[in-house]
Amino acid sequence: MSNILLRKARIGDVKGIQELLRDCADKGQLLPRALTYLYKHVRNFYVAELDDGRLAACCGLSVVWEDLAEICSLVVEESFRRQGLGRRIVQACLGEADSLGVQRIFALTYQEEFFKKLGFVEVDKDVLPQKIWADCIHCPKYPDCDETAVLLNL
Ligand SMILES: CC(C)(COP(=O)(O)OP(=O)(O)OC[C@H]1O[C@@H](n2cnc3c(N)ncnc32)[C@H](O)[C@@H]1OP(=O)(O)O)[C@@H](O)C(=O)NCCC(=O)NCCS
Repeated sequence: MSNILLRKARIGDVKGIQELLRDCADKGQLLPRALTYLYKHVRNFYVAELDDGRLAACCGLSVVWEDLAEICSLVVEESFRRQGLGRRIVQACLGEADSLGVQRIFALTYQEEFFKKLGFVEVDKDVLPQKIWADCIHCPKYPDCDETAVLLNL
């Protein structure tokens, strides 16, 4: 793998993040995000930057409640998968969650095996009522969500 810098996202990364998300959204793997959303939430994101400035990965950490945060908008560009980059960028978000004092991190995902490798366990969505009240009820799939909820206690 060429040199990859993991760092917090900056404004100039937003279009690259949107592109990473769009490729996966087109395949139904996650939700696409509008530029307005990404500019508003840019401080949630970590990115993995290649030597030439392109982005190889992105991942968001969104605080949901006093003890709860979500890993969201996680993408590793296809040619960089299965080389440990997904683990590294999620761990960067977990480190930030820990420093913020967050105790529980969850994700809603089709990639539960990946998250289990990082120590997450599968849980019933009912243990995440704050996520359901805030976001899920606005989702076109609600209440028939086919994603798996996974949770990690820090
Ligand atoms: C899920 C994703 C981020 C994983 O990134 P990655 O860089 O390939 O993952 P890593 O190489 O860090 O893998 C870490 C571990 O998980 C395993 N793993 C990765 N993807 C896996 C999968 N789809 N199924 C089973 N295990 C998987 C790896 O083998 C590795 O195991 P190891 O520790 O025993 O070696 C990547 O496949 C992706 O971007 N997918 C499309 C978007 C998506 O679904 N995002 C999740 C939204 S919540």
